[in-house]
Amino acid sequence: MTQKVTLIATAAMGLEAIVAREVKALGYEDVQVENGRVVFTAEPSAIPRANLWLRTADRVKLLAGRFKATTFDELFEKTKALPWEDFIAEDGEFPVVGKSVKSKLYSVPDCQSIVKKAIVERLKQKYGVASWLKESGAFYRVEIALHKDEALLTIDTSGSGLHKRGYRVGQGEAPLKETLAAALVQITNWHPDQPFVDPFCGSGTIAIEAALIGQNIAPGFNREFASEEWGFISQKAWDDAFQEAEDFANYDQPLNITGSDINPDLITIAKNNAMEAGLGGLISWKQMQMSDFKPKQDNGYLVSNPPYGERMGEREEVEQMYRDLGSIMRDHPSWSVYILTSHEGFESLYGKSATKKRKLFNGFIKTDYYQYFGKSKKTKFSNNKSFSK
Ligand SMILES: C[S@@+](CC[C@H](N)C(=O)[O-])C[C@H]1O[C@@H](n2cnc3c(N)ncnc32)[C@H](O)[C@@H]1O
Repeated sequence: MTQKVTLIATAAMGLEAIVAREVKALGYEDVQVENGRVVFTAEPSAIPRANLWLRTADRVKLLAGRFKATTFDELFEKTKALPWEDFIAEDGEFPVVGKSVKSKLYSVPDCQSIVKKAIVERLKQKYGVASWLKESGAFYRVEIALHKDEALLTIDTSGSGLHKRGYRVGQGEAPLKETLAAALVQITNWHPDQPFVDPFCGSGTIAIEAALIGQNIAPGFNREFASEEWGFISQKAWDDAFQEAEDFANYDQPLNITGSDINPDLITIAKNNAMEAGLGGLISWKQMQMSDFKPKQDNGYLVSNPPYGERMGEREEVEQMYRDLGSIMRDHPSWSVYILTSHEGFESLYGKSATKKRKLFNGFIKTDYYQYFGKSKKTKFSNNKSFSK
């Protein structure tokens, strides 16, 4: 297939602009930002590339069709009219999942079975199959998403969510999603030559994502994707995408990244995760309480997701930690500090108003990302910069 496909990179609320920036950095120009997604048109080879490279998107979906549907007949006929045979092989397995928000067609199980029936009829006709479809081949997860009577039909190209990089062999109690951790790093102006510290590192997600960004390592390099089995994407497109990821990785980039945590078990977990990510000894890990942190260099970046103090009995301790952090960092004005927390009193405890704030969701928890820019001269750093080499 040489014709273009429309792809949807799904994004957590608040991260759409960052996902769009990543899509553009891959060289795709026809990019539209919507709530919770970034839509772009590209050659089918964009499917391997987007899956391999997008650090902050949740999934990459292929848009099969988008239309208005207020009756089951309309849903059936419009679904059947789409060229499913362009994507789904004769023996493809295609479960249909669904969701419906503020729409006349609110029964999700009915919508799913109607869509399934319409695709089955279309494929039987096109492939000349009289009996039933075997569904013993590649996997295509079709989704019918209705929103205000608009039906969006997609096929998931990713398989498991893109946050599953394949390196997290262990985790603590409240690990950050890898996609959000990557976004926290991308929001900063950190350049890989500068010191980078997460003093509440837990299982190490932020530090590991920073190292992957710092060495321009494709986040999907160590995993598989559902669409690797799809016939309409050539093996060459996959081979080229993996080769490109290999070529653009900059393993010679020195890094100065440290993760520390009060809990020694988490340091062991973080170390193992970093090993699994192929980062070997690139990150320094240490068991340490935050109040012992003393920056030894200038122009560093502290990026962290500390405890929020939401648990019973934890609040006072956490508030003291925020005060301690503020007083340590006051003596190091060249450092930039980025803190994600749901604690609304953070700025007053830290003792300073943030240069910038950004609302983000950590799962279902509403948080703010407090950003304090250091007083050093800024270097403009654009992520995935190797694409413009
Ligand atoms: C929200 S978790 C961080 C999760 C981490 N971002 C991840 O992806 O796994 C907060 C971490 O702060 C650590 N912590 C709590 N009090 C601390 C202190 N006083 N000094 C250093 N670390 C502390 C906890 O052990 C926990 O791992």
